[in-house]
Amino acid sequence: MKIIRCKDYEDMSKKAAALFFSQIHMKPDCVLGLATGSTPVGTYKQLIKWYEEGELDFSKVKSVNLDEYVGLDGTNDQSYRYFMNENLFNHVNIDKANTNVPNGKADNMNEEALRYEALIESLGGIDMQLLGIGNNGHIGFNEPSDAFDKITHEVKLTDSTIHANARFFETIDDVPKTAISMVIGTIMKAKKVVLIANGPKKADIIYETCFGPITPNVPASALQMHPDATIIVDEEAYATILAKRGE
Ligand code: PGA
Repeated sequence: MKIIRCKDYEDMSKKAAALFFSQIHMKPDCVLGLATGSTPVGTYKQLIKWYEEGELDFSKVKSVNLDEYVGLDGTNDQSYRYFMNENLFNHVNIDKANTNVPNGKADNMNEEALRYEALIESLGGIDMQLLGIGNNGHIGFNEPSDAFDKITHEVKLTDSTIHANARFFETIDDVPKTAISMVIGTIMKAKKVVLIANGPKKADIIYETCFGPITPNVPASALQMHPDATIIVDEEAYATILAKRGE
């Protein structure tokens, strides 16, 4: 696990975007694993900027997103499909037919999960996966639990995640209670993983993720076992590592 310490959010976003820039240049038809939330917005803005400057070509890129709320379709402005369109896909030359987000409106979530896993396999797996991290250590919607889940499926969101995400909804009751999420095992199969985090609220969980025990109670801690994981954090998210290890 490599940790890259950055000055601030902008610096973090630029460094993360630079890894995706290289990935797309090295393999123009790569499969990118993408994430939603506040953290990746700056990374996407930087990729859009490079595209507009003629430095990046997304025409052959394929993408798979980590997760989607159950019950929301892509036209709902809180859905992750909508987020991806607004924050990246509508602004670059990616073919939308090559972009994939789990279907939160599928009739049968177990079947949808199997379809999504099979789709990732059929694309040849993920070349580079972008991740944010929840305050409780979740990646995707893999919430803390007693065991790592085996296969993409419908997950119940914890109160902490519902509270954290309430800021995007009119009332907390509007936050969906379940989601469909790629599991840790699928994320671990990505050839490269890039996790980004900023701000003081993430400092303790970043320490746990990088130096705590590997446990499903901190789902992101599994990344300690990943052969090519890069953690990119700003000074504030690095604060607990600095305090405990003086690095
Ligand atoms: P955030 O969410 O980027 O909005 O902090 C991250 C996450 O919950 O994975």
